[in-house]
Amino acid sequence: MSTEEQKQQTVVVIGAGPAGLFAARELASAGVHVIALNRDIKPGGLAEYGIYPTKHKMKDGLRKQFRQILQMPNLDYYGNVMVGQNGDLSLTDLKNMGFKAIMVTAGAQGTKWLGLPGEDIPKGVYHAKDIVYHYNKLPPYSQRPYYIGKKVALVGVGNVMLDIARWLIRTIKVDEVTAVARRGPAEVKFDKKEMEYVIANLDLQALDEELARVTTVMESVGQDPNEAREYIHSALPKALEPVSQTRFRLHFLASPTQILGNSEGQVCGLEIEETKLVRTNGDTKARGTGVKRVMEIDTVIFAIGDRVDEHFGLPVQWNAFVKNPNPSYPVDGISYETFDPEANKPLEGIFVAGWSREASSGLVGIARKDGERGARAALQYLETVTVPTTAAKALIQHLYQLEKPIITKEDIARLEAVEQAEAERQGLEEFKFAGNDEMLEAMGIEIAQKL
Ligand SMILES: Cc1cc2nc3c(=O)[nH]c(=O)nc-3n(C[C@H](O)[C@H](O)[C@H](O)COP(=O)(O)OP(=O)(O)OC[C@H]3O[C@@H](n4cnc5c(N)ncnc54)[C@H](O)[C@@H]3O)c2cc1C
Ligand SMILES: NC(=O)c1ccc[n+]([C@@H]2O[C@H](COP(=O)([O-])OP(=O)(O)OC[C@H]3O[C@@H](n4cnc5c(N)ncnc54)[C@H](OP(=O)(O)O)[C@@H]3O)[C@@H](O)[C@H]2O)c1
Repeated sequence: MSTEEQKQQTVVVIGAGPAGLFAARELASAGVHVIALNRDIKPGGLAEYGIYPTKHKMKDGLRKQFRQILQMPNLDYYGNVMVGQNGDLSLTDLKNMGFKAIMVTAGAQGTKWLGLPGEDIPKGVYHAKDIVYHYNKLPPYSQRPYYIGKKVALVGVGNVMLDIARWLIRTIKVDEVTAVARRGPAEVKFDKKEMEYVIANLDLQALDEELARVTTVMESVGQDPNEAREYIHSALPKALEPVSQTRFRLHFLASPTQILGNSEGQVCGLEIEETKLVRTNGDTKARGTGVKRVMEIDTVIFAIGDRVDEHFGLPVQWNAFVKNPNPSYPVDGISYETFDPEANKPLEGIFVAGWSREASSGLVGIARKDGERGARAALQYLETVTVPTTAAKALIQHLYQLEKPIITKEDIARLEAVEQAEAERQGLEEFKFAGNDEMLEAMGIEIAQKL
């Protein structure tokens, strides 16, 4: 296909996080017209609303790249647009409008429920995503109350756990934070760098006692408790000065079995089952021992990774959208094509990348590469189809008939300028509006069009 013909092609990219934006850039650089639809007003996804708020340098660097991408003339951005079965439009609507290639880069917006009794207690049970969206000022999470008590259990021992521990220890300043790991000290998933922010609050004596408690189990699978201790302690030389008295502890070989609540609908305990480790294919697995205990806590936050949105309109398996096991356009051996396992056939033209392809997997750089590879798969497919020019018109018409404001890249530029000016006025490194109304007002969007 000639470049001229390729210019006629329009691809819809759903989700403007790192995967979506870098996919959009790859597509637009190849001459394709890209329409990015994003649930949030602002682009950036978890780079804007997940990465820890005070990582200004990293966040600003990413925002700069995203700004450059949005400036591409053949890329249109429409924020405040939710795609899905309960959204402003569905995948079927997009297909019916004539779009042949659609990239799904909507991240992992669903919740990984464990099916535990008490998960529905109204006050004090939360999932990491909601909390990080809250403290990163993403509406409506930014405006919802979250009950954070004095003793908080964080389930999971990855970097998300440490981000939330950091917020609890350095901003909220709770009395106690206990990270609960179903496996042992050798299987922690967090990075040393992230531990540096909170290790000053880590109870090192309790850590030694905990390591002594789990030594027999670790040794039974050939692990060395001293190595694990060294890894955790390696964050000590660069420990950030503490700002609270919060006692931070790590609790290993404990798998949550039940959340206990009081008569006021508030969490008052977390029941855990002790586990042991078993070796499987070079890795370890936690196996319940039947011994249960209750930890006295008043808030539990699950930081165990997420799953994709089940109401998006694509089949879900293993927390992510199902991929075609025999892709027609693999890139680096990876399938970016979606698949319907019930009908046992590919969902033609619908591609996935980033955390929509593999939920809760990796850093921004990985999402970026994944988006770019996914776009390359879509570009190969575009060689075989022609997207009618009426598709883009139908979509724009649909968007502007919705009874809500649709945010363009020009609006985003205005919003950023107002936020920047406000940061300067207040002498802050960054200023962010926490509500959609304030953002709309800053962009000069009519009150009559309010959300
Ligand atoms: C708490 C936390 C902290 C992190 N910190 C770091 C860090 O310090 N450094 C680092 O390198 N990585 C970090 N990461 C990882 C990084 O954020 C991810 O790798 C990356 O953001 C994934 O990109 P993505 O585009 O696939 O998904 P996301 O970033 O989640 O983007 C998804 C986009 O899709 C949009 N969307 C969702 N649903 C819909 C829908 N139905 N319709 C339309 N649009 C939709 C959303 O609005 C969003 O803009 C962190 C992750 C988390 C959870
Ligand atoms: N600062 C940063 O650079 C930063 C910050 C945040 C996130 N990230 C990245 O974002 C990605 C996601 O991070 P994450 O912390 O959500 O995921 P993660 O690193 O995979 O950690 C998830 C944790 O939850 C546990 N877990 C999973 N399912 C469980 C279950 N059913 N019951 C009990 N525990 C369970 C895991 O234990 P098992 O090991 O036993 O499965 C693990 O300890 C990672 O790539 C991470 O590096 C980076």
